[in-house]
Amino acid sequence: MRMQQISFVALTLIGLGLVVLGLAGTSAGAAGGFLDAERDPAHPYDAQIRDNTRSLLSQGRTTFRYDTLGSERLFGNTIGLHTAIEGARFGGVGPGVSPKTALAVGLKVDSDALPREVVAAIQAGQVDLDDPAVTLTLLKLGAVVGVTGVFNNPDQPGQGLKAVGIQCALCHSTVDDSFAPGIGKRLDGWPNQDLNVGAIINLAPDLSAVDHLLGVDDSTTRNVLQSWGPGKFDAELFMDGKAFRPDGGPAATLIPPAYGLAGVNLHTYTGWGSVTYWNAFVGNLEMHGQPGTFYDPRLDNADRFPVAARNGFGHLISPPGEDRISPKLPALHLYQLALPAPTPAPGSFDAQAAARGQAVFEGQGRCATCHVPPTFTEPGWNLHTAQEIGIDDFQASRSPDGRYRTTPLAGRLFNRTRGFYHDGRFAKLLDVVNHYDGFMRLGLSDRQKQDLVEYLKSL
Ligand code: HEC
Ligand code: HEC
Repeated sequence: MRMQQISFVALTLIGLGLVVLGLAGTSAGAAGGFLDAERDPAHPYDAQIRDNTRSLLSQGRTTFRYDTLGSERLFGNTIGLHTAIEGARFGGVGPGVSPKTALAVGLKVDSDALPREVVAAIQAGQVDLDDPAVTLTLLKLGAVVGVTGVFNNPDQPGQGLKAVGIQCALCHSTVDDSFAPGIGKRLDGWPNQDLNVGAIINLAPDLSAVDHLLGVDDSTTRNVLQSWGPGKFDAELFMDGKAFRPDGGPAATLIPPAYGLAGVNLHTYTGWGSVTYWNAFVGNLEMHGQPGTFYDPRLDNADRFPVAARNGFGHLISPPGEDRISPKLPALHLYQLALPAPTPAPGSFDAQAAARGQAVFEGQGRCATCHVPPTFTEPGWNLHTAQEIGIDDFQASRSPDGRYRTTPLAGRLFNRTRGFYHDGRFAKLLDVVNHYDGFMRLGLSDRQKQDLVEYLKSL
Protein backbone atom coordinates (compact mmCIF):
# COMPACT_ATOMS: atom_id res chain seq x y z
CA MET A 1 0.00 0.00 0.00
CA ARG A 2 2.70 2.33 1.03
CA MET A 3 4.72 1.37 -2.06
CA GLN A 4 1.71 2.16 -4.22
CA GLN A 5 1.24 5.58 -2.63
CA ILE A 6 4.86 6.45 -3.18
CA SER A 7 4.84 5.38 -6.79
CA PHE A 8 1.59 7.29 -7.32
CA VAL A 9 3.21 10.45 -5.95
CA ALA A 10 6.31 9.82 -8.05
CA LEU A 11 4.25 9.28 -11.19
CA THR A 12 2.24 12.43 -10.54
CA LEU A 13 5.45 14.41 -10.10
CA ILE A 14 6.94 12.99 -13.28
CA GLY A 15 3.69 13.77 -15.03
CA LEU A 16 3.73 17.36 -13.81
CA GLY A 17 7.36 17.66 -14.82
CA LEU A 18 6.50 16.50 -18.31
CA VAL A 19 3.64 18.97 -18.54
CA VAL A 20 5.97 21.77 -17.39
CA LEU A 21 8.64 20.67 -19.85
CA GLY A 22 6.02 20.45 -22.57
CA LEU A 23 4.78 23.95 -21.85
CA ALA A 24 8.29 25.32 -21.72
CA GLY A 25 8.98 23.61 -25.03
CA THR A 26 5.90 25.16 -26.61
CA SER A 27 6.57 28.69 -25.43
CA ALA A 28 10.26 28.53 -26.34
CA GLY A 29 9.31 27.19 -29.76
CA ALA A 30 6.79 29.97 -30.27
CA ALA A 31 9.28 32.64 -29.17
CA GLY A 32 11.94 31.26 -31.50
CA GLY A 33 9.61 31.27 -34.49
CA PHE A 34 7.95 34.61 -33.83
CA LEU A 35 10.11 36.87 -35.95
CA ASP A 36 10.82 34.13 -38.50
CA ALA A 37 7.17 33.40 -39.25
CA GLU A 38 6.05 34.94 -42.52
CA ARG A 39 2.26 34.64 -42.38
CA ASP A 40 0.06 34.07 -39.37
CA PRO A 41 -3.55 34.72 -40.44
CA ALA A 42 -4.92 33.23 -37.20
CA HIS A 43 -3.17 35.91 -35.11
CA PRO A 44 -3.38 39.17 -37.06
CA TYR A 45 -2.24 41.40 -34.18
CA ASP A 46 0.78 39.17 -33.52
CA ALA A 47 1.61 39.52 -37.20
CA GLN A 48 1.32 43.29 -36.86
CA ILE A 49 3.73 43.29 -33.89
CA ARG A 50 6.24 41.31 -35.90
CA ASP A 51 5.98 43.54 -38.97
CA ASN A 52 6.24 46.66 -36.79
CA THR A 53 9.38 45.35 -35.11
CA ARG A 54 11.04 44.55 -38.40
CA SER A 55 10.14 47.86 -39.94
CA LEU A 56 11.24 49.93 -36.90
CA LEU A 57 14.55 48.06 -36.72
CA SER A 58 15.28 48.77 -40.33
CA GLN A 59 14.24 52.46 -40.14
CA GLY A 60 16.19 52.87 -36.91
CA ARG A 61 19.32 51.43 -38.47
CA THR A 62 19.00 53.76 -41.44
CA THR A 63 18.69 56.78 -39.14
CA PHE A 64 21.57 55.70 -36.89
CA ARG A 65 23.88 55.10 -39.86
CA TYR A 66 22.90 57.59 -42.51
CA ASP A 67 20.60 60.38 -41.26
CA THR A 68 22.32 63.73 -40.71
CA LEU A 69 19.10 65.11 -39.15
CA GLY A 70 19.97 68.38 -40.91
CA SER A 71 23.32 68.75 -39.13
CA GLU A 72 24.93 69.88 -42.40
CA ARG A 73 23.67 73.40 -41.65
CA LEU A 74 26.05 73.69 -38.71
CA PHE A 75 28.97 71.61 -39.99
CA GLY A 76 28.70 72.89 -43.55
CA ASN A 77 27.09 76.31 -43.83
CA THR A 78 28.07 77.65 -40.40
CA ILE A 79 31.57 76.39 -39.56
CA GLY A 80 32.57 75.34 -43.09
CA LEU A 81 34.14 71.99 -42.15
CA HIS A 82 33.60 70.81 -45.73
CA THR A 83 35.91 73.49 -47.13
CA ALA A 84 38.78 72.16 -45.01
CA ILE A 85 38.02 68.59 -46.11
CA GLU A 86 38.07 69.36 -49.83
CA GLY A 87 41.02 71.77 -49.65
CA ALA A 88 41.96 74.72 -51.88
CA ARG A 89 42.36 72.54 -54.97
CA PHE A 90 38.59 71.88 -55.03
CA GLY A 91 37.44 75.36 -54.02
CA GLY A 92 37.91 75.04 -50.26
CA VAL A 93 40.71 76.10 -47.94
CA GLY A 94 44.07 74.64 -46.92
CA PRO A 95 45.64 71.37 -48.04
CA GLY A 96 42.46 69.27 -47.73
CA VAL A 97 42.02 66.04 -45.79
CA SER A 98 43.70 63.00 -47.31
CA PRO A 99 42.42 59.49 -46.50
CA LYS A 100 45.57 59.02 -44.42
CA THR A 101 44.76 62.10 -42.33
CA ALA A 102 41.12 61.03 -42.05
CA LEU A 103 42.14 57.61 -40.72
CA ALA A 104 44.68 59.24 -38.39
CA VAL A 105 41.96 61.32 -36.69
CA GLY A 106 39.97 58.11 -36.24
CA LEU A 107 37.44 58.27 -39.07
CA LYS A 108 36.43 54.80 -40.30
CA VAL A 109 35.71 53.49 -43.79
CA ASP A 110 32.82 51.11 -44.48
CA SER A 111 34.27 48.48 -46.83
CA ASP A 112 30.77 47.33 -47.89
CA ALA A 113 30.24 50.74 -49.51
CA LEU A 114 33.31 50.34 -51.74
CA PRO A 115 32.64 49.10 -55.28
CA ARG A 116 34.68 46.10 -56.42
CA GLU A 117 36.92 48.17 -58.70
CA VAL A 118 37.82 50.53 -55.85
CA VAL A 119 38.68 47.56 -53.60
CA ALA A 120 40.84 46.10 -56.38
CA ALA A 121 42.59 49.44 -56.94
CA ILE A 122 43.34 49.83 -53.21
CA GLN A 123 44.67 46.26 -53.07
CA ALA A 124 46.86 46.88 -56.10
CA GLY A 125 48.31 49.98 -54.40
CA GLN A 126 46.90 52.21 -57.14
CA VAL A 127 45.01 54.55 -54.81
CA ASP A 128 46.93 57.54 -53.47
CA LEU A 129 45.97 57.69 -49.80
CA ASP A 130 47.67 61.09 -49.56
CA ASP A 131 45.27 62.67 -52.07
CA PRO A 132 42.24 64.62 -50.72
CA ALA A 133 40.44 63.83 -54.00
CA VAL A 134 40.25 60.22 -52.80
CA THR A 135 38.52 61.39 -49.59
CA LEU A 136 35.95 63.17 -51.75
CA THR A 137 35.37 59.94 -53.68
CA LEU A 138 34.93 58.01 -50.43
CA LEU A 139 32.40 60.59 -49.25
CA LYS A 140 30.56 60.37 -52.53
CA LEU A 141 30.37 56.59 -52.13
CA GLY A 142 28.91 57.04 -48.63
CA ALA A 143 31.88 55.08 -47.29
CA VAL A 144 33.01 57.41 -44.48
CA VAL A 145 31.25 56.13 -41.35
CA GLY A 146 29.10 58.84 -39.77
CA VAL A 147 29.89 61.60 -42.28
CA THR A 148 27.81 62.51 -45.32
CA GLY A 149 29.07 64.81 -48.05
CA VAL A 150 26.61 67.08 -49.84
CA PHE A 151 28.11 67.78 -53.25
CA ASN A 152 27.79 70.86 -55.43
CA ASN A 153 27.42 68.58 -58.40
CA PRO A 154 26.69 65.01 -57.28
CA ASP A 155 27.84 63.64 -60.63
CA GLN A 156 31.27 65.24 -60.36
CA PRO A 157 32.88 65.01 -56.94
CA GLY A 158 35.77 66.96 -58.47
CA GLN A 159 33.55 70.05 -58.25
CA GLY A 160 33.77 70.11 -54.48
CA LEU A 161 31.48 69.92 -51.50
CA LYS A 162 28.51 72.08 -50.57
CA ALA A 163 28.43 70.85 -46.94
CA VAL A 164 28.98 67.86 -44.67
CA GLY A 165 26.62 66.44 -42.07
CA ILE A 166 27.23 63.91 -39.32
CA GLN A 167 25.39 60.89 -37.93
CA CYS A 168 25.13 58.93 -34.68
CA ALA A 169 27.46 56.41 -36.32
CA LEU A 170 30.30 58.95 -36.32
CA CYS A 171 30.83 58.46 -32.60
CA HIS A 172 28.87 55.27 -31.86
CA SER A 173 30.02 52.94 -34.66
CA THR A 174 33.36 51.57 -35.64
CA VAL A 175 34.49 48.94 -38.18
CA ASP A 176 35.99 45.48 -37.72
CA ASP A 177 39.26 46.36 -39.55
CA SER A 178 38.72 43.31 -41.78
CA PHE A 179 40.04 45.09 -44.88
CA ALA A 180 42.78 47.21 -43.28
CA PRO A 181 43.17 49.18 -40.06
CA GLY A 182 40.21 51.60 -39.99
CA ILE A 183 38.55 49.94 -43.00
CA GLY A 184 36.04 47.12 -42.62
CA LYS A 185 32.46 46.18 -41.86
CA ARG A 186 30.36 48.43 -39.66
CA LEU A 187 29.86 47.63 -35.98
CA ASP A 188 26.91 49.76 -34.86
CA GLY A 189 26.85 50.80 -31.22
CA TRP A 190 30.60 50.19 -30.70
CA PRO A 191 32.15 53.45 -29.54
CA ASN A 192 34.76 54.88 -31.87
CA GLN A 193 37.61 55.00 -29.37
CA ASP A 194 40.01 56.43 -31.97
CA LEU A 195 37.86 59.33 -33.10
CA ASN A 196 39.35 62.71 -32.30
CA VAL A 197 36.19 64.82 -32.48
CA GLY A 198 37.93 67.94 -31.22
CA ALA A 199 40.71 67.74 -33.81
CA ILE A 200 38.13 67.21 -36.58
CA ILE A 201 36.00 70.22 -35.58
CA ASN A 202 39.20 72.23 -35.21
CA LEU A 203 39.85 71.77 -38.95
CA ALA A 204 36.88 74.03 -39.67
CA PRO A 205 37.93 77.51 -40.81
CA ASP A 206 35.19 79.48 -39.05
CA LEU A 207 34.33 78.62 -35.46
CA SER A 208 32.95 82.07 -34.67
CA ALA A 209 29.46 80.66 -34.08
CA VAL A 210 30.90 78.34 -31.41
CA ASP A 211 32.95 81.20 -29.90
CA HIS A 212 29.79 83.28 -29.76
CA LEU A 213 27.75 80.48 -28.17
CA LEU A 214 30.34 79.90 -25.45
CA GLY A 215 31.17 83.58 -25.08
CA VAL A 216 34.92 83.08 -25.52
CA ASP A 217 37.56 84.05 -28.09
CA ASP A 218 38.55 81.82 -30.97
CA SER A 219 41.85 80.61 -29.56
CA THR A 220 40.09 79.50 -26.34
CA THR A 221 37.57 77.49 -28.36
CA ARG A 222 40.35 75.86 -30.37
CA ASN A 223 42.41 75.05 -27.24
CA VAL A 224 39.39 73.38 -25.67
CA LEU A 225 38.73 71.27 -28.78
CA GLN A 226 42.39 70.28 -28.91
CA SER A 227 42.34 69.23 -25.25
CA TRP A 228 39.82 66.38 -25.72
CA GLY A 229 42.00 63.84 -27.53
CA PRO A 230 40.92 60.55 -29.14
CA GLY A 231 37.75 58.73 -28.05
CA LYS A 232 36.32 61.70 -26.16
CA PHE A 233 33.72 64.41 -26.54
CA ASP A 234 32.16 66.90 -24.15
CA ALA A 235 28.36 66.77 -24.45
CA GLU A 236 27.85 69.22 -21.59
CA LEU A 237 30.16 71.98 -22.87
CA PHE A 238 27.39 73.56 -24.93
CA MET A 239 25.13 73.60 -21.85
CA ASP A 240 27.42 75.00 -19.14
CA GLY A 241 30.53 76.26 -20.94
CA LYS A 242 32.81 74.38 -18.51
CA ALA A 243 35.78 73.15 -20.49
CA PHE A 244 38.19 71.98 -17.80
CA ARG A 245 37.95 70.01 -14.58
CA PRO A 246 39.08 71.71 -11.36
CA ASP A 247 42.39 69.79 -11.65
CA GLY A 248 42.96 71.36 -15.08
CA GLY A 249 42.26 68.21 -17.09
CA PRO A 250 39.80 68.31 -20.03
CA ALA A 251 36.13 68.07 -19.06
CA ALA A 252 35.40 65.69 -21.96
CA THR A 253 34.07 62.17 -21.32
CA LEU A 254 34.71 58.90 -23.09
CA ILE A 255 32.38 58.22 -26.02
CA PRO A 256 30.28 55.37 -24.58
CA PRO A 257 28.89 52.32 -26.38
CA ALA A 258 25.29 52.58 -27.63
CA TYR A 259 24.75 48.81 -27.25
CA GLY A 260 23.64 46.73 -24.28
CA LEU A 261 21.20 49.41 -23.14
CA ALA A 262 17.92 47.45 -23.03
CA GLY A 263 16.52 47.25 -19.52
CA VAL A 264 18.64 50.18 -18.32
CA ASN A 265 16.62 53.08 -16.91
CA LEU A 266 18.74 56.24 -17.03
CA HIS A 267 21.41 56.96 -19.64
CA THR A 268 24.60 58.94 -20.02
CA TYR A 269 27.28 58.93 -17.32
CA THR A 270 25.18 61.27 -15.23
CA GLY A 271 21.67 60.00 -15.95
CA TRP A 272 20.16 62.82 -17.98
CA GLY A 273 17.25 60.63 -19.08
CA SER A 274 16.18 57.58 -21.07
CA VAL A 275 17.70 56.54 -24.39
CA THR A 276 15.00 58.37 -26.32
CA TYR A 277 15.38 61.48 -24.11
CA TRP A 278 19.07 61.53 -24.95
CA ASN A 279 18.48 60.88 -28.65
CA ALA A 280 16.29 63.99 -28.84
CA PHE A 281 18.88 65.93 -26.82
CA VAL A 282 21.77 64.85 -29.06
CA GLY A 283 19.90 65.29 -32.32
CA ASN A 284 18.95 68.86 -31.42
CA LEU A 285 21.70 70.16 -29.15
CA GLU A 286 24.88 68.24 -30.11
CA MET A 287 24.50 67.42 -33.79
CA HIS A 288 22.53 70.64 -34.17
CA GLY A 289 20.13 68.83 -36.43
CA GLN A 290 17.26 71.02 -37.55
CA PRO A 291 14.51 71.79 -37.63
CA GLY A 292 13.76 69.85 -34.45
CA THR A 293 11.81 70.02 -31.22
CA PHE A 294 13.20 69.66 -27.72
CA TYR A 295 11.69 70.36 -24.32
CA ASP A 296 13.54 70.28 -21.01
CA PRO A 297 12.88 73.14 -18.58
CA ARG A 298 15.71 71.82 -16.38
CA LEU A 299 18.00 73.60 -18.85
CA ASP A 300 16.50 76.94 -17.78
CA ASN A 301 18.62 76.74 -14.60
CA ALA A 302 21.07 79.54 -15.40
CA ASP A 303 23.41 78.70 -12.50
CA ARG A 304 23.97 75.18 -13.67
CA PHE A 305 23.48 75.58 -17.45
CA PRO A 306 24.26 79.20 -18.34
CA VAL A 307 24.85 78.59 -22.05
CA ALA A 308 21.69 76.49 -22.47
CA ALA A 309 19.55 78.90 -20.45
CA ARG A 310 20.82 81.91 -22.42
CA ASN A 311 20.03 80.23 -25.72
CA GLY A 312 16.68 78.69 -24.76
CA PHE A 313 17.92 75.15 -25.49
CA GLY A 314 15.17 73.65 -23.34
CA HIS A 315 12.47 75.10 -25.58
CA LEU A 316 13.18 74.32 -29.23
CA ILE A 317 10.07 74.26 -31.35
CA SER A 318 9.53 73.47 -34.99
CA PRO A 319 6.25 73.16 -36.84
CA PRO A 320 4.93 69.60 -37.16
CA GLY A 321 5.64 68.43 -40.69
CA GLU A 322 8.93 70.34 -40.80
CA ASP A 323 10.46 68.67 -37.74
CA ARG A 324 13.29 66.42 -39.00
CA ILE A 325 14.17 64.80 -35.68
CA SER A 326 11.02 63.91 -33.71
CA PRO A 327 9.59 61.49 -36.32
CA LYS A 328 12.85 59.51 -36.21
CA LEU A 329 12.81 58.89 -32.44
CA PRO A 330 10.62 55.75 -32.14
CA ALA A 331 12.65 53.66 -34.59
CA LEU A 332 15.98 55.02 -33.37
CA HIS A 333 15.03 54.05 -29.82
CA LEU A 334 14.11 50.48 -30.73
CA TYR A 335 17.24 50.00 -32.84
CA GLN A 336 19.55 50.97 -29.99
CA LEU A 337 17.72 48.75 -27.52
CA ALA A 338 18.20 45.87 -29.97
CA LEU A 339 21.98 46.29 -30.17
CA PRO A 340 23.47 43.42 -28.13
CA ALA A 341 26.52 43.86 -25.93
CA PRO A 342 29.37 42.01 -27.64
CA THR A 343 30.94 39.07 -25.85
CA PRO A 344 34.69 38.73 -25.22
CA ALA A 345 36.51 36.01 -27.16
CA PRO A 346 36.89 32.79 -25.20
CA GLY A 347 40.50 32.62 -24.10
CA SER A 348 40.78 36.39 -23.69
CA PHE A 349 40.33 35.84 -19.93
CA ASP A 350 41.05 33.07 -17.43
CA ALA A 351 37.68 31.31 -17.05
CA GLN A 352 38.46 29.68 -13.70
CA ALA A 353 39.67 32.91 -12.16
CA ALA A 354 36.61 34.67 -13.62
CA ALA A 355 34.30 32.15 -11.89
CA ARG A 356 36.05 32.87 -8.57
CA GLY A 357 35.87 36.60 -9.35
CA GLN A 358 32.11 36.36 -9.84
CA ALA A 359 31.83 35.18 -6.24
CA VAL A 360 33.83 38.21 -5.10
CA PHE A 361 31.67 40.53 -7.27
CA GLU A 362 28.48 39.17 -5.73
CA GLY A 363 29.85 38.65 -2.21
CA GLN A 364 32.70 40.35 -0.37
CA GLY A 365 33.17 43.00 -3.12
CA ARG A 366 29.52 44.15 -2.81
CA CYS A 367 29.67 45.15 -6.49
CA ALA A 368 26.35 43.51 -7.38
CA THR A 369 24.49 45.70 -4.89
CA CYS A 370 24.73 48.45 -7.56
CA HIS A 371 25.80 46.52 -10.69
CA VAL A 372 22.83 44.11 -10.59
CA PRO A 373 23.14 41.32 -13.18
CA PRO A 374 22.26 40.93 -15.99
CA THR A 375 22.08 44.66 -16.85
CA PHE A 376 24.76 45.45 -14.24
CA THR A 377 22.95 48.61 -13.21
CA GLU A 378 20.08 49.02 -10.74
CA PRO A 379 16.55 48.20 -11.80
CA GLY A 380 14.96 51.51 -10.81
CA TRP A 381 16.55 54.93 -10.27
CA ASN A 382 20.16 53.98 -11.05
CA LEU A 383 22.00 57.09 -9.81
CA HIS A 384 24.50 57.71 -7.00
CA THR A 385 26.20 60.69 -5.46
CA ALA A 386 29.92 61.18 -5.99
CA GLN A 387 30.52 60.43 -2.29
CA GLU A 388 28.90 57.01 -2.65
CA ILE A 389 31.51 55.95 -5.19
CA GLY A 390 34.41 57.89 -3.73
CA ILE A 391 35.20 60.35 -6.53
CA ASP A 392 34.87 64.11 -7.14
CA ASP A 393 31.47 65.49 -8.18
CA PHE A 394 32.64 67.74 -11.05
CA GLN A 395 30.94 65.81 -13.88
CA ALA A 396 27.91 64.83 -11.77
CA SER A 397 27.26 68.47 -10.94
CA ARG A 398 27.05 69.25 -14.67
CA SER A 399 23.79 67.24 -14.92
CA PRO A 400 20.25 67.94 -13.69
CA ASP A 401 20.31 65.38 -10.85
CA GLY A 402 23.93 65.99 -9.81
CA ARG A 403 24.69 62.25 -9.70
CA TYR A 404 26.55 59.47 -11.49
CA ARG A 405 24.69 56.65 -13.22
CA THR A 406 25.74 53.07 -12.37
CA THR A 407 27.44 52.05 -15.60
CA PRO A 408 26.09 48.84 -17.17
CA LEU A 409 29.19 46.67 -17.50
CA ALA A 410 28.44 43.91 -20.05
CA GLY A 411 30.38 44.18 -23.31
CA ARG A 412 31.95 47.48 -22.22
CA LEU A 413 35.11 46.48 -20.43
CA PHE A 414 37.02 43.82 -22.39
CA ASN A 415 37.52 45.99 -25.47
CA ARG A 416 38.25 49.34 -23.76
CA THR A 417 41.34 51.23 -24.91
CA ARG A 418 40.88 54.67 -23.27
CA GLY A 419 40.54 53.93 -19.56
CA PHE A 420 37.60 53.42 -17.21
CA TYR A 421 35.01 55.62 -15.47
CA HIS A 422 33.35 58.51 -17.31
CA ASP A 423 36.58 60.36 -18.10
CA GLY A 424 38.87 57.36 -18.41
CA ARG A 425 40.66 58.26 -15.15
CA PHE A 426 41.53 54.65 -14.32
CA ALA A 427 43.90 53.22 -16.92
CA LYS A 428 43.36 49.56 -15.98
CA LEU A 429 40.61 47.43 -14.46
CA LEU A 430 42.92 46.66 -11.56
CA ASP A 431 43.03 50.40 -10.83
CA VAL A 432 39.21 50.42 -10.64
CA VAL A 433 39.23 47.43 -8.28
CA ASN A 434 41.92 49.01 -6.10
CA HIS A 435 39.85 52.19 -5.94
CA TYR A 436 36.79 50.31 -4.62
CA ASP A 437 38.92 48.17 -2.31
CA GLY A 438 40.40 51.24 -0.66
CA PHE A 439 37.31 53.41 -0.65
CA MET A 440 34.84 50.74 0.50
CA ARG A 441 37.38 49.03 2.82
CA LEU A 442 36.65 45.68 1.21
CA GLY A 443 39.83 44.00 2.43
CA LEU A 444 40.31 42.04 -0.80
CA SER A 445 43.47 39.95 -1.17
CA ASP A 446 45.67 40.34 -4.26
CA ARG A 447 44.33 37.02 -5.52
CA GLN A 448 40.70 38.17 -5.07
CA LYS A 449 41.46 41.40 -6.93
CA GLN A 450 43.02 39.48 -9.83
CA ASP A 451 40.00 37.14 -9.93
CA LEU A 452 37.64 40.11 -9.94
CA VAL A 453 39.54 41.65 -12.87
CA GLU A 454 39.25 38.37 -14.83
CA TYR A 455 35.51 38.34 -14.11
CA LEU A 456 35.12 41.93 -15.34
CA LYS A 457 37.06 40.99 -18.50
CA SER A 458 34.63 38.11 -19.07
CA LEU A 459 31.48 40.27 -19.07
C1 HEC B 1 30.24 63.74 -31.44
C2 HEC B 1 30.07 62.41 -30.89
C3 HEC B 1 28.67 61.90 -30.66
C4 HEC B 1 27.62 61.86 -31.57
C5 HEC B 1 27.59 62.37 -33.00
C6 HEC B 1 26.54 61.19 -30.89
N1 HEC B 1 26.92 60.85 -29.62
FE1 HEC B 1 25.87 59.74 -28.31
N2 HEC B 1 27.22 60.13 -26.87
C7 HEC B 1 28.42 60.79 -27.04
C8 HEC B 1 29.02 61.05 -25.74
C9 HEC B 1 30.34 61.72 -25.46
C10 HEC B 1 28.12 60.52 -24.78
C11 HEC B 1 28.25 60.57 -23.25
C12 HEC B 1 27.54 61.81 -22.76
C13 HEC B 1 27.49 61.95 -21.27
O1 HEC B 1 27.41 60.94 -20.57
O2 HEC B 1 27.50 63.09 -20.80
C14 HEC B 1 27.02 59.92 -25.53
C15 HEC B 1 25.97 59.22 -24.95
C16 HEC B 1 25.03 58.52 -25.67
C17 HEC B 1 24.09 57.56 -25.11
C18 HEC B 1 24.05 57.09 -23.67
C19 HEC B 1 24.89 55.83 -23.50
C20 HEC B 1 24.86 55.29 -22.12
O3 HEC B 1 25.78 54.56 -21.72
O4 HEC B 1 23.92 55.58 -21.37
C21 HEC B 1 23.29 57.14 -26.14
C22 HEC B 1 22.16 56.14 -26.04
C23 HEC B 1 23.71 57.84 -27.33
N3 HEC B 1 24.78 58.66 -27.01
C24 HEC B 1 23.12 57.74 -28.57
C25 HEC B 1 23.40 58.58 -29.64
C26 HEC B 1 22.58 58.70 -30.83
C27 HEC B 1 21.33 57.89 -31.12
C28 HEC B 1 23.15 59.63 -31.62
C29 HEC B 1 22.65 60.18 -32.93
C30 HEC B 1 21.35 60.83 -32.86
C31 HEC B 1 24.37 60.07 -30.94
N4 HEC B 1 24.45 59.45 -29.73
C32 HEC B 1 25.29 60.96 -31.47
C33 HEC B 1 28.95 61.17 -28.27
C34 HEC B 1 28.20 61.28 -29.44
C1 HEC C 1 27.33 52.51 -4.89
C2 HEC C 1 27.15 51.84 -6.15
C3 HEC C 1 28.33 51.11 -6.75
C4 HEC C 1 29.06 50.07 -6.20
C5 HEC C 1 28.90 49.42 -4.84
C6 HEC C 1 30.02 49.67 -7.22
N1 HEC C 1 29.89 50.47 -8.32
FE1 HEC C 1 31.00 50.33 -9.99
N2 HEC C 1 30.17 52.06 -10.69
C7 HEC C 1 29.19 52.78 -10.05
C8 HEC C 1 29.02 54.05 -10.72
C9 HEC C 1 28.03 55.13 -10.31
C10 HEC C 1 29.94 54.06 -11.78
C11 HEC C 1 30.18 55.20 -12.78
C12 HEC C 1 31.44 55.96 -12.34
C13 HEC C 1 31.95 56.95 -13.36
O1 HEC C 1 31.77 56.74 -14.57
O2 HEC C 1 32.55 57.94 -12.98
C14 HEC C 1 30.63 52.79 -11.74
C15 HEC C 1 31.61 52.41 -12.65
C16 HEC C 1 32.25 51.18 -12.63
C17 HEC C 1 33.18 50.72 -13.63
C18 HEC C 1 33.63 51.50 -14.86
C19 HEC C 1 32.74 51.20 -16.04
C20 HEC C 1 33.20 51.88 -17.30
O3 HEC C 1 32.52 51.71 -18.33
O4 HEC C 1 34.22 52.59 -17.32
C21 HEC C 1 33.59 49.47 -13.28
C22 HEC C 1 34.55 48.57 -14.03
C23 HEC C 1 32.94 49.16 -12.02
N3 HEC C 1 32.13 50.21 -11.66
C24 HEC C 1 33.13 47.99 -11.32
C25 HEC C 1 32.72 47.82 -10.00
C26 HEC C 1 33.21 46.78 -9.13
C27 HEC C 1 34.20 45.72 -9.53
C28 HEC C 1 32.60 46.98 -7.93
C29 HEC C 1 32.81 46.19 -6.65
C30 HEC C 1 34.17 46.16 -6.15
C31 HEC C 1 31.73 48.12 -8.06
N4 HEC C 1 31.85 48.62 -9.33
C32 HEC C 1 30.92 48.64 -7.06
C33 HEC C 1 28.48 52.37 -8.93
C34 HEC C 1 28.89 51.36 -8.07
